Amino acid sequence: MNIKDLKTAFFQRYGQGDASISGELHTFFAPGRVNLIGEHIDYNGGFVFPAALTIGITAIARRRQDNTIRLYSLNTEQEVLVDTLGEMNFEEKDGWGNYPKGVFQFLSREGYELGGYDIMYWGDLPDGAGLSSSAAIEVLTTFMMLTLESEKTPVLASTAKGGEPIDRVWLSKFCQQVENRYIGVNSGIMDQFCVALGKKDHAILLNTDTLAYEYVPFQLKGYSLVIMNTNHRRELADSKYNERRAECDQALAILNDKYQYRDLCSASLEAVEELIQDETLRKRAIHVITENQRVIQAIDVLKQGDLVAFGQLLNQSHHSLQEDYAVTGTPLDALAHASQQQPGCLGARMTGAGFGGCAIALVKNENVEAFKKNVSAIYSEKTGLKADFYPSQIGEGVYQSETFERQA
Ligand code: GLA
Repeated sequence: MNIKDLKTAFFQRYGQGDASISGELHTFFAPGRVNLIGEHIDYNGGFVFPAALTIGITAIARRRQDNTIRLYSLNTEQEVLVDTLGEMNFEEKDGWGNYPKGVFQFLSREGYELGGYDIMYWGDLPDGAGLSSSAAIEVLTTFMMLTLESEKTPVLASTAKGGEPIDRVWLSKFCQQVENRYIGVNSGIMDQFCVALGKKDHAILLNTDTLAYEYVPFQLKGYSLVIMNTNHRRELADSKYNERRAECDQALAILNDKYQYRDLCSASLEAVEELIQDETLRKRAIHVITENQRVIQAIDVLKQGDLVAFGQLLNQSHHSLQEDYAVTGTPLDALAHASQQQPGCLGARMTGAGFGGCAIALVKNENVEAFKKNVSAIYSEKTGLKADFYPSQIGEGVYQSETFERQA
């Protein structure tokens, strides 16, 4: 779908404009993300290495004269109505609409007096597939509201001072709060940070303890990053995610009876062996500590242009997430293992929270077509499911895009 079709859909639904409606259409885009390596350590003070994609979510917005926000998703064909003077509380029946509602509620707590809008969303990012569709809609909606509201009233101090660009680090922290406290998923900051600060052809090395970050050119010289969806529903993903996070907190508490680690990523493997008796907690801690080491090694080998070593680290990361962190499950394992065996594949691993969702593989360009065919066949045979493969490059973080041109 391109911008012209989206505008047509918008006018069909919300009309060309009348006395209750004012202003022009404004278009915004936020990407999905993959995490290259550094999984489940952004809430343990570790290093992560995500990259924004060129697939994502687009929104078109137009101001209204009243205090109603009408939200419509072309993907789910569901409309959600919000009264910006009301409570704007989470309601199960509002489904995806809770993400924008959470943003509106939290913005109003920041002191924004939001006006009315008609907003239409459309995305080419699979929902709940581990490519950060939730961070994309949160960051997109917040960025859009801050941009549009700042035209109306002076921007508040917490975001940016008069006329300055939106503070994207603030933006990602704000959206993480919406995810944690409104949606109820205790996620780290990686997804929101990457969606807000992504850069074309670069991955972001982010220190989640200090939020210091560095853009690392992601050049694959003859190789492609293949993104694959298990199409397996992520059952209990949110509760399992919160459970892993709690296990990490318990492991750290045991270690800190004797030591004073700032976070689990700074602990040593020796201390874990010494103090953690419970096998489950020990394995969780081992994943966290070794995964952080793998990210540091990955940056090192990438900077030397050693893609073979990088691929091996991807494989090791998957293994650790499977055996020690237990967040993969049969479909993700089937997809990653089938990928790892293919000619021209340097490495493959799950990406994101796991429990279903997506995996990535590093594949030699000339092998990509055969790779997809073979992986598809093995995967279907093992699981009875059909894998999807997404063509996507490394793209920019959230932006306003009046000239947006993308094909469905
Ligand atoms: C989800 C969360 C992130 C991160 C990953 C796992 O995507 O939103 O904060 O914890 O899982 O690495």
